[in-house]
Amino acid sequence: MLDLWKDPWPLNVTQCPCDVHLTDWLARERVRNASLFHFGTGDHHHVGKTLAMNGSGNAVLGVTATKPEYISYMDLVIAHPEIGKRYKVLFTDIYQLEPRLLPVFDVVTLFHLCEFWSETNAPFATMRDVDVLKAMVARTRPGGKVLFYTGSFAFPAAKALLDREAEGLGLADPERFETLLIYARR
Ligand SMILES: C[S@@+](CC[C@H](N)C(=O)[O-])C[C@H]1O[C@@H](n2cnc3c(N)ncnc32)[C@H](O)[C@@H]1O
Repeated sequence: MLDLWKDPWPLNVTQCPCDVHLTDWLARERVRNASLFHFGTGDHHHVGKTLAMNGSGNAVLGVTATKPEYISYMDLVIAHPEIGKRYKVLFTDIYQLEPRLLPVFDVVTLFHLCEFWSETNAPFATMRDVDVLKAMVARTRPGGKVLFYTGSFAFPAAKALLDREAEGLGLADPERFETLLIYARR
């Protein structure tokens, strides 16, 4: 049996501002009609809800591995079908991601890279963090952006992966926005 994160995560901008920084950055960059892959919806679904409702035309595929967050997504789009038009959620352990089932995105967030590897789940994993990074860069269109969260407790591990892999993967020109580190895919 998979041992997954059980508690729904509320929006707490003091503790974890990455999702709000993402929507602020998208607004500042005037990103419109883009497709986004967002690792870690939270129970608040801030990214999907905001982008579905702000007239940007952006569409989000969010990932959760927390059952109550998946249920709150279902409740959300049943109660507010206009949100469901542009916001979809995939329930999966990130280490069981199946890249062949994913399209190419304009913007990919890997805010929680390196946070959730567990030896308990390892027998069921199809990839490790480095494979998640490689797979999702490959699912980012050339000229698209891949974003990381410098406030993650696992950011040092994610940054070490990036320092090793970025050049080979064609990730370049890292920029900071608030707590985010943003690479362009060449
Ligand atoms: C700390 S919460 C952060 C949520 C949101 N990004 C925020 O900052 O408010 C972590 C998120 O990662 C998801 N998560 C936890 N373990 C995961 C796993 N093994 N695979 C995929 N997602 C996972 C949780 O479901 C949750 O949505």
